[in-house]
Amino acid sequence: MLELKNVNAYYGESHILRNVTFTVEPGEVACLMGRNGVGKTTTLKAITGLLPVRSGQISFAGKDMTTLPTDRRARQGLAYVPQGREIIPHLTVRQNLQLGFWARSDRPNGSVEKTAFDEVYQLFPKLTQILNRPGGVLSGGEQQQLAIGRAILSNPKLLLLDEPTEGIQPSIVDQIEDVIIGFKQQRRFAILLVEQGLHFAARLAEKYVVMAKGAVVAAGKSDELSADMVKQHLTV
Ligand SMILES: Nc1ncnc2c1ncn2[C@@H]1O[C@H](COP(=O)(O)OP(=O)(O)OP(=O)(O)O)[C@@H](O)[C@H]1O
Ligand SMILES: [Mg+2]
Repeated sequence: MLELKNVNAYYGESHILRNVTFTVEPGEVACLMGRNGVGKTTTLKAITGLLPVRSGQISFAGKDMTTLPTDRRARQGLAYVPQGREIIPHLTVRQNLQLGFWARSDRPNGSVEKTAFDEVYQLFPKLTQILNRPGGVLSGGEQQQLAIGRAILSNPKLLLLDEPTEGIQPSIVDQIEDVIIGFKQQRRFAILLVEQGLHFAARLAEKYVVMAKGAVVAAGKSDELSADMVKQHLTV
């Protein structure tokens, strides 16, 4: 589904991603882990095309997309919930959600639209109470729910989630966890989740990719992750 092969990326002259190689299979939940500053967000930016790669390949759904612009990648089924959430502040909650729906590549009819919005409202009932509020005034937890809702309205094949629980109160963390578990059971799309907390990730992910200093240092199923690797590179 998603394959990164020897991806190298730079910010100016700083070499950040070093031969990053891993795959995410259809319907799989994979977790990208590692301490602060190891290059997790940069990896997601390379996947979305927000940061051009200097060498290596990124393919998605069987097609090479290494040089494809970000909007074309989105239309191919890539949805991104960035670390800063990036809600459009002066648009209402409803309008922010609408942007997600408009990113769909098909042209669905009204009943599909209603079903898709109803699903989001069911996952995040809080959003129904604040539909006309500007995105900029929402709390962190509300913004995160909106950002995930907006991303799934685009009907993705792969959802990229960058630290969805960072700075969020425990009750909403639990809710987000339940939503991710629900997605996993449905297997409608794959998820690449960035998380530093081992416990949260262990409950959700089938595969781990551990990064250190811009490189992948381990990848595999949860039971293949050694205690030593956890101690060296992860926050427990
Ligand atoms: N726009 C930028 N310009 C220059 N350097 C950057 C830029 N963004 C990030 N970096 C650097 O690139 C490295 C990787 O950053 P990145 O944001 O990918 O880390 P991360 O693993 O997501 O960390 P965190 O867990 O803190 O979110 C860091 O050394 C960071 O300082
Ligand atoms: Mg980050």
